Amino acid sequence: MSAVIIDGNKIAQDVRNEVAQGVAELQAKHGIVPGLAAFLIGDDPASAIYVRNKHRACQEVGIFSETFKLPADITQDELIGRIRDVNEDDRFHGVLVQLPLPPHMDERTVILSMDPDKDADGLHPLSLGRLVEGKPMFVPGTPAGIQELLKRTDYQTDGKHVVICGRSNIVGKPAAILLMQKAEWANATVTVCHTGTKDLARFTRSADILIVAIGKANAITADMVGENTVVIDVGMNRVPDDTNKRGYRLVGDVDFEEVSKKVAAITPVPGGVGPMTVAMLMLNTLRAAQLKALAAASRV
Ligand code: GUN
Repeated sequence: MSAVIIDGNKIAQDVRNEVAQGVAELQAKHGIVPGLAAFLIGDDPASAIYVRNKHRACQEVGIFSETFKLPADITQDELIGRIRDVNEDDRFHGVLVQLPLPPHMDERTVILSMDPDKDADGLHPLSLGRLVEGKPMFVPGTPAGIQELLKRTDYQTDGKHVVICGRSNIVGKPAAILLMQKAEWANATVTVCHTGTKDLARFTRSADILIVAIGKANAITADMVGENTVVIDVGMNRVPDDTNKRGYRLVGDVDFEEVSKKVAAITPVPGGVGPMTVAMLMLNTLRAAQLKALAAASRV
């Protein structure tokens, strides 16, 4: 039997339509147009594509957006100065710094310089701390997008065994914390696997829901999955492909060809988690603007 293919493009479009409606309402009621500032440092081609996609999504939903493209050799202090300018700029309700940063910068110091009230990416320690407490304000886009995919395709998480491969600060760790919360579309038993895990397949085979975010093409093969598993592939790897005019194609961390013949459901790459990450960024930016409107209304 072959798996249900979870259509991230379609679900992300639904989310963006809802955001567009929220943006229109905010403007009609409060005269506020949500704004997002994106910092792109250096010339990593993948990062440039991601930021361009975010800008396009903003345009589609009616969010004002500006991308600040800065050279790879900008100093950390200069970058932080530019972020502080955006913190003070009322046109922007959300700010994001595209990762990875150039090697001479300290990611944590840069993220700490962002106003936590504008943390549309949910990566500020205050946002992550709130998530740990079970009182999230801004959830990072990829974990939030995964939860939204599961919810909108009705793959229940409550009481299920969720196995996450990868422990990054932007996907693995926040996804684990999000899905273990005592809350709707969470309440899962979560296992986190990483480079220190011995016999990875022992864990992946026992998953009801398998989330893979390790950044290695075709790392999860058909012998590592069970037949009733729902597979969420966060990977986005470029592999050489002469038949493609770009000279490469994008593949996930899961051997889609073989795994999709075996499991219950799977997200494709591209067109699975990626568009959801962007859609949830739009939702966070709208939320930041809504919270600001509420705060302003409560002061009058
Ligand atoms: N790099 C890869 N994914 C992301 C993301 O979701 N946000 C940011 N800021 N950088 C990334």
